[in-house]
Amino acid sequence: MPLPTPYLAAKTLTVVKPIDTAGAPRIVNLGLNESWLGPAPGAAEAIREAAGRVHRYNDPGCTAMRAAIGRQFGRDPARIVCGNGSEELLDAIGRVYARAGDEILFPACSFLQFSIVAYRIGAKAVEAPLAANFGVDVDALLAAVTPATRIVFVATPNNPTGVNVPSADLARLSKELPSHIVLVIDSAYAEYVDPAEGEAALALADRHANVVVTRTFSKAYGLAAARAGWAYAQAEMIAALNNVRGIGNVNGLAQAAATVAVGHPDFAARVRKETARERDHLERGLVALGFECAPSSANFVFARLVGAPEGWAQQVVRRLAKKGFIIRSNEDYRLPDWLRITVAARADLDEFLALMAAEVGSNEGRSATAG
Ligand SMILES: Cc1ncc(COP(=O)(O)O)c(C=O)c1O
Repeated sequence: MPLPTPYLAAKTLTVVKPIDTAGAPRIVNLGLNESWLGPAPGAAEAIREAAGRVHRYNDPGCTAMRAAIGRQFGRDPARIVCGNGSEELLDAIGRVYARAGDEILFPACSFLQFSIVAYRIGAKAVEAPLAANFGVDVDALLAAVTPATRIVFVATPNNPTGVNVPSADLARLSKELPSHIVLVIDSAYAEYVDPAEGEAALALADRHANVVVTRTFSKAYGLAAARAGWAYAQAEMIAALNNVRGIGNVNGLAQAAATVAVGHPDFAARVRKETARERDHLERGLVALGFECAPSSANFVFARLVGAPEGWAQQVVRRLAKKGFIIRSNEDYRLPDWLRITVAARADLDEFLALMAAEVGSNEGRSATAG
């Protein structure tokens, strides 16, 4: 008997890769770009308090959460839509503004989710070439626009490279991109750069009716498991996104946590400062071992061992996982030599660097023997 035929193949791209940590004494996950500094003050308490009301439906309009975000960022809550993580909103934008056969454009080495959005709706994912050092090339993006382009995604800072897109470049892209094409500025890591950059992105959405900015509580605010994100755009786009999101998409516990968290920009500022300090430490340690690092502005480092033999990065990921240290390899980004390592507490980073030093040492030993 024939089985139902899915339109989408069962195996596809995934942002989260399975990894075997069997036998590890403890797990230090440096593979998901989570914050080691924990949730924003009061967020966990808000979840506990909301748990007592869990038999009641959540507010489908996320009224308090949108009001709190609006207050914090000086924006009209009516122009905010909340999501089950910003991931849901990226997906919703794809479903609203593109169809099978359309093109979704983004810079090469962009967050994998952009390809996934295209895949889910049968659109074509188109990558524009980058400038040097993983920089986003606005001219290359504009040159890659065709009559079939419906959406342009730009993540700033980008995952997996960590590279920030200067506000002036985003302003030029917004100005020169044809106004019928949606420009999505994915600002999931905005709290890790100067707040003026996040503000500049929101201001682009104020100025251009085709610009939408997405933000998340998963990173600097430390609410990854709650699944809470938001998008900011002009009224027409917000109405369209509200049409396709799930009715109760942001659960009540997540709403309660996000509503409290967003009122703590001081916490976000501390996370930014401490992350920058530990990122420098990690980068310095890796460079001392012979790595080169992309210029990351986020809570992770993108690095490659100069001169490593083919397949070395994948082997290291597997061997470190057996010791409990999870880092991410990037063959799915067609960057198989590059590793993405999340910034973490100093002691964990130092233990990681010691394990990596041993890996690099034995690699050199092998190269010397081979040579
Ligand atoms: C660039 C970027 N955008 C969006 C997301 C989605 O985050 P969330 O769905 O947790 O808000 C991530 C997650 O890692 C990311 O790296």
